[in-house]
Amino acid sequence: MTKNTFTLKSLKSKCLVGKLSVPADKSISIRALLISSICFGNTKISNLLESEDVKNTLNCLKKLGIKISKKGNQFEIFGQGGFFDHPKEDLFLGNSGTGLRLLVGLLSSRNISANFTGDESLSSRPMMRIIEPLIKMNALVKHNNGCLPIKIENNNDSSLPITYSLKIGSAQVKSAILLAGLNLRGTTIIKEKIPSRDHTEILLNYLGANISKEKNVITLKSPNFLKPKDIFIPGDFSSAAFLIVAALITKGSKIILKNVGLNFYRTGLLDVLKKMNAKINILNKDIINGELIGDIFVESSSLISTDVDSSLAPRLIDEFPILFVAASYASGKSIFRGLEELKFKESDRLKTMADALKNAGVEIHLKKNSLEVMGNKKQKGGSYVVTKNDHRIAMSMLTFGLAAEKSITIDDSSMIKTSFPKFRETMNSLNATISNVSK
Ligand code: S3P
Repeated sequence: MTKNTFTLKSLKSKCLVGKLSVPADKSISIRALLISSICFGNTKISNLLESEDVKNTLNCLKKLGIKISKKGNQFEIFGQGGFFDHPKEDLFLGNSGTGLRLLVGLLSSRNISANFTGDESLSSRPMMRIIEPLIKMNALVKHNNGCLPIKIENNNDSSLPITYSLKIGSAQVKSAILLAGLNLRGTTIIKEKIPSRDHTEILLNYLGANISKEKNVITLKSPNFLKPKDIFIPGDFSSAAFLIVAALITKGSKIILKNVGLNFYRTGLLDVLKKMNAKINILNKDIINGELIGDIFVESSSLISTDVDSSLAPRLIDEFPILFVAASYASGKSIFRGLEELKFKESDRLKTMADALKNAGVEIHLKKNSLEVMGNKKQKGGSYVVTKNDHRIAMSMLTFGLAAEKSITIDDSSMIKTSFPKFRETMNSLNATISNVSK
């Protein structure tokens, strides 16, 4: 990722006020692109997230011969019913685990040979979790000790559907298997111990796939011939999470976030924050292409500590960093359990956040897979954050700085564009003080 010569600093801010839309959902944007590329005909996608991760997926589809055009706020994807050209160049997914894992799954049963690469962070993340089930489906996959680069080879129609029990709560692994199974004759069955986000299942169902779910068992009968339909991408709850916590911890705040995706498997943070005494209300609920959306009304609140059990982890996996920030400003000791998967994100988020919060003056106790945060209404701040190139660490710690006594500076801000390119502008439009500083 190219680094900027400036970075960002956040300062103690007055109350946040305003009403706005957050950027579109990253998980759904990537799925909408991939799945519309295999529809029979053209799909129009409105409000696609134009962030680095999504652009990398889009560029890969172009390299695979999919035509994509843009008019105003609408993208048109010229689906080819599952036929792709052999890419002449590597498929580069940048920082995006979702783009990579889902695209490998999708292409692994499509008689394609392709080479996948990514940035430094993605290149160090574990890939056996998708490679193992895909090999069971007869995919030909080569890898570098379970990491990138990955190469898939044309297996000449020898892929088979499988029945698979997921060992970890992972929507990316589940989606990779479902996308691989879509065109195979027979039934793909996935059993989930702890269910994860179901955007893939919802979108496949919306576009006419024969997919159903009963008691944590997903059944996909194939082959499927997907028909295009218009798709609207809801606001990203994971991006909204920074604004929600910012409003909660800055005195006198009142904000409304419009049209945010409220998928049950994404919104564990709301349940936890409400138990912490957060004043949050959901208004104007609606369903759009199968996804629940609504407006989120947040007022600053006097937070109390919490105890989060491991069974909740997949429902707030991306929100732990910002939840640790909320817990830092709550009264009392909070405990978070079942955090193992946090170690395999864009950085080891458990250690990166524990270090960042400690340096900012928070009392933290890091155990093997759990974390204790000793909350305090007053936090010192005044630190320089090592973000490890992780967008959610950068945004979480900048949010921390909005209520701290002294400013927080992050080592780099360029990676924020992977998910929330206008983070600083959006925060400041609500009255927050985040400024550019030279490095
Ligand atoms: C995602 C699933 C989660 C999440 C990631 C996006 C998705 O990863 O952390 O940011 O879009 O499917 P895992 O499936 O690895 O838990």
